Amino acid sequence: MVWDPQQYLAFAAPRLQPAIDLLARIPSESPGSVVDLGCGPGNVTPLLRQRWPDAKITGLDNSEEMLARARESMPDGTFEKTDVSNWHPGKAFDVIYSNAALQWVTGHEALFTSIAGHVAPGGILAVQMPRNFEAPSHSLMLDVVREGPWRELLEPVWVNVPTQAPAYYYNLLDPLTRDLQIWETEYLQVLEGENPVAEYTRGTWLTRFLNPLDEPWRSEFETIYRNRVAAAYPPESNGKTLFPFRRLFILASF
Ligand SMILES: C[S@@+](CC[C@H](N)C(=O)[O-])C[C@H]1O[C@@H](n2cnc3c(N)ncnc32)[C@H](O)[C@@H]1O
Repeated sequence: MVWDPQQYLAFAAPRLQPAIDLLARIPSESPGSVVDLGCGPGNVTPLLRQRWPDAKITGLDNSEEMLARARESMPDGTFEKTDVSNWHPGKAFDVIYSNAALQWVTGHEALFTSIAGHVAPGGILAVQMPRNFEAPSHSLMLDVVREGPWRELLEPVWVNVPTQAPAYYYNLLDPLTRDLQIWETEYLQVLEGENPVAEYTRGTWLTRFLNPLDEPWRSEFETIYRNRVAAAYPPESNGKTLFPFRRLFILASF
């Protein structure tokens, strides 16, 4: 998938808060090696550096566009192109941190088992993934998928959403870990601008459905979706729009 770092970063502040909250919960004081898995445009990697200035920190991502942006934002950082679903580092890390990335990778049983195998004894796996599929921001996409001529093409994209309920990760990781904490938080995001929820999803989830479409379907799909989202998330009296957003956190100690 082709990413637009500019669009993703348009809502940098609300997207960053869960990353900060996850980082704050990691109990490691001085890890030697840290990986930022699915580092994107490198907006979180500097926070890892700030927290652990002496650690060797590596950002991994499979998007050239995102990596280019990450290298710009942290010129002295180490960023490498890697597909997480086929990641064989050949060594273990003290902290594997992943914010808002693993929901893009299918096959979570194999994926999480494999990633857990790359955490050093005494190390930590810390993951945050959005889990907002039942909210109108996401369910309206499914409605539009099902109602249009693109149904056959797009429905499999929805069915393949890999993110599971919290108990799934508990049952998967509990036998592998020393301590396991899983929680969800719904952030009340306060957004500004015209139809900001549609702009927000255009930086991430909506691209899944727009990318496979050619014109005129692409524009038609987006217009129908945008109109419905605008109606579902009207602005408050101060002109700002409230966008509740649920996120799943996993903190596993090995
Ligand atoms: C929503 S961005 C999150 C970026 C960053 N972690 C943050 O918190 O802002 C998701 C990132 O996951 C990356 N990604 C998706 N699938 C991937 C894969 N199979 N391997 C590596 N990175 C992947 C994308 O390229 C994108 O940069």
